[in-house]
Amino acid sequence: MKFVEGKIIQEKVFGDAVFPKTLNPPIGKACGTSDLLVEMIKEKREWLTDLLKRHLAILFRGFNVLTPEEFQSVVEAFNWDEMPYLGPTHRAKVTDRVFTANQAPVGQCINFHHEMFLIKQQPSKIFFYCQEPAPEGGETSILPSHIIVSKMEEELPEFVADIEQKGYVFKMKTAKENHSNSIMNKTWNILLETEDEFEAEKRAKEKLNCNAVNFNEDGSAEFVYGPLNPIRNFEGKRVWFNPISKYSTSDKDITTFGDGSSFPEESFEVYKRITEENNVDIKWEKGDVLLLDNLSVQHARRPGKPPRVILVSMCKCYWISFREWNKVKESWIDSGYFVVESPLKLMRFWKVVEAGDIHLNKTGITIPSQGIPLPVEHIRYTENGHGDEENQIEGSKKCKQFTYIGSICRQIFTVFGLAREPDRNRPR
Ligand SMILES: [Fe+2]
Repeated sequence: MKFVEGKIIQEKVFGDAVFPKTLNPPIGKACGTSDLLVEMIKEKREWLTDLLKRHLAILFRGFNVLTPEEFQSVVEAFNWDEMPYLGPTHRAKVTDRVFTANQAPVGQCINFHHEMFLIKQQPSKIFFYCQEPAPEGGETSILPSHIIVSKMEEELPEFVADIEQKGYVFKMKTAKENHSNSIMNKTWNILLETEDEFEAEKRAKEKLNCNAVNFNEDGSAEFVYGPLNPIRNFEGKRVWFNPISKYSTSDKDITTFGDGSSFPEESFEVYKRITEENNVDIKWEKGDVLLLDNLSVQHARRPGKPPRVILVSMCKCYWISFREWNKVKESWIDSGYFVVESPLKLMRFWKVVEAGDIHLNKTGITIPSQGIPLPVEHIRYTENGHGDEENQIEGSKKCKQFTYIGSICRQIFTVFGLAREPDRNRPR
């Protein structure tokens, strides 16, 4: 069965890729069901994975996903690990892997952001499910982050150079009262599960990756991030990962360059205009499922009228696309070694192996969906080809990363019965 490639009026084209890619039920199945969607995802998981890499967002429309349980089955069909939510807003658990989206009143706008962008580890994928569309407004708006970088560079090249060189400081203020009506509706002690300020600061630095915490007399706390570079390199693209705009229109967050100097006033206006000119508003239909690459796409919520029930599920998935896999395979053909060129890619590779998407044994590798056994002699990890993502990892984190990489290498070599430490030199 094949998905029918659909279209929504609001979609845009970036480069040669439609954003988002809309997929409808196959011909002859005008009225889809979640069972059909689950079956098709399982059958076409690799194709969908590559499609997501190309389009960054996929809207499954017309499959009539009726309940949160059915939505969870759709998410699970991708076979990606669950990513639990951690952050400054309350989310109610609806099923094992499904949560409510931000519970702030629907009339409030939420600005563009990557999910959990201020947390140490972000979900790589985020699913949204429309159980009940708002009678008016309430769209989820989406925006490819690499477009922000390219447009900002076109309009404000000096500002982009400055922010990359000096970094910027971002402050996030928690709620004064728990379950307040604000977008940030968790107090610091609920968020960090402690009443002790010293312990809270320690946990905030560990879990939230912030650099300092200021506790205010009104009961709120201010988490200070940076100086950090808001632009990340991801999958060969420069993405604007940390927004400079306020998380919500009512927050009094302050953003400055890393040296304390102020941003030029026009930078906020230009940034805001670019996000508004290049986004796509998803006008929800009941039963829609939207899948986003959370590391490449920002999302926002337009104000709307209740009732509006949009549910969320997040994944941390480690996969390699077939394109990447083919590159690894070619390296074997050329050199007799599997060359995995970055620590993150090696981790993904190992996770794919663990997930059973690629079967390993002492004599070869089989990709079940292709059914072709590939003989293997060695896998080598080389430090020469540092992945872009790895450049984000600084100092001490890098050391931990390499310890972990070492242990993955040992596991892979053990599977192959190669009782030696991985050779970290490029084999050619
Ligand atoms: Fe969000």
